[in-house]
Amino acid sequence: MTAKLKSGDRLVVASHNKGKVREINELLAPYGIEAVSAGELDLPEPEETGITFKANAELKARAAAKASGLPALADDSGLEVDALDGQPGIYSARWAGETKDFEVAMGRVEVALGEADARTPDRRGANFTCALTLATPDGACETFEGKVFGTLVWPPRGKRGFGYDPIFLPQGGSETFGEMEPDEKHGQSHRARAFKLFRDTCLDA
Ligand code: IMP
Repeated sequence: MTAKLKSGDRLVVASHNKGKVREINELLAPYGIEAVSAGELDLPEPEETGITFKANAELKARAAAKASGLPALADDSGLEVDALDGQPGIYSARWAGETKDFEVAMGRVEVALGEADARTPDRRGANFTCALTLATPDGACETFEGKVFGTLVWPPRGKRGFGYDPIFLPQGGSETFGEMEPDEKHGQSHRARAFKLFRDTCLDA
């Protein structure tokens, strides 16, 4: 069992990814938690050696909690494409290369889908998965997972969100995550679903 956080408490968001930090801050905003990012505290980025989202979220949260002396919330997430046997999955960030260019990453997914002959919506199913871990400086941690299912469109649509958002069309929707207002994405995203479980267990709201 990890800590209960209440309004006024400080928390490290254990990520150097600006898109994730922004979304986690938006989700935390109503609860009065003071969130600082690992980047702002200049914390080192641990190597993601886990082979699951959960394992990577836990190692990032533990490292940030230990280095900062504060509770730390880490997110490990990614896009799992059915026709690619779940790739890029935990390697979603790496598909964008050294320059973290997600036009390139989305293009790689599209090329791989073409090679798998996945051209119609029924062959282009995918999900985003998010593991959120809260760790305390004593090494205790708890993890919460959320998923959202949809299909991949081409060409990319919309400039909002981050990462693979412009190609992800959630089930039953008409706008990609890249076209949606932030609140609309938070109404259904993998991160928001994991966050709700975290909130119910860890926030004294
Ligand atoms: P990591 O968890 O730091 O290994 O990186 C996860 C990667 O998955 C991100 O860099 C994005 O490319 C992708 N990803 C995770 N969540 C989202 C999302 O909400 N929208 C779009 N891409 C995402």
